[in-house]
Amino acid sequence: MTELSLVIRPELPIDAQAIERLHERAFGPGRFARTAFRLREGAPHLANLSFTALVGTLIVGSVRMSPITAGDVEGLMLGPLTVDPAFESRGIGAALMRRSIDAAREEGHGLVLLVGDLPYYARFGFVRVPPRQLELPGPVNPDRLLALEMDKGVLARARGPVLPKRVG
Ligand SMILES: CC(C)(COP(=O)(O)OP(=O)(O)OC[C@H]1O[C@@H](n2cnc3c(N)ncnc32)[C@H](O)[C@@H]1OP(=O)(O)O)[C@@H](O)C(=O)NCCC(=O)NCCS
Repeated sequence: MTELSLVIRPELPIDAQAIERLHERAFGPGRFARTAFRLREGAPHLANLSFTALVGTLIVGSVRMSPITAGDVEGLMLGPLTVDPAFESRGIGAALMRRSIDAAREEGHGLVLLVGDLPYYARFGFVRVPPRQLELPGPVNPDRLLALEMDKGVLARARGPVLPKRVG
């Protein structure tokens, strides 16, 4: 980042509209039909594990985490991760990923799932979930169902349906 420096802070309620615009731009109206969206709809994202990236007062990126269960294992679903196209390829996506993963780890979470491209997410430690191990509430390309194991062995124990987990 040149002149203006990047700030990443926990998401605030006032960020909602700008984040919605980032989602609209990245995923279009079809986003509401996506399987990951359906999971997130069932359990709102966690404010303390969701982060907003700003350059000055401009919101340029966002990452969210929502609580899920994967079989008997409690975990998190990461996403959407979005960066304003005008600010892509400057490390903002990576900074958001690292911040949210670190926060999840500090809170004692053991497993993060996401639906996305392995060539991007492998750099953060994500691996492909073995086929047929987890069932999502809708169609997902099995190559794109990825997991980050923060407790060793937790992914192998996560078997069965992935469901939103209501908290509070
Ligand atoms: C994917 C996304 C979040 C990356 O944000 P970013 O700030 O540009 O990411 P970074 O700067 O950390 O990394 C950029 C690098 O990742 C690469 N990259 C981006 N998307 C990629 C993908 N789907 N697969 C493989 N590599 C990818 C870029 O080519 C770039 O490579 P370079 O460093 O060699 O130039 C952003 O492009 C975006 O919002 N895309 C639209 C929404 C989306 O697809 N979200 C992810 C699914 S939930």
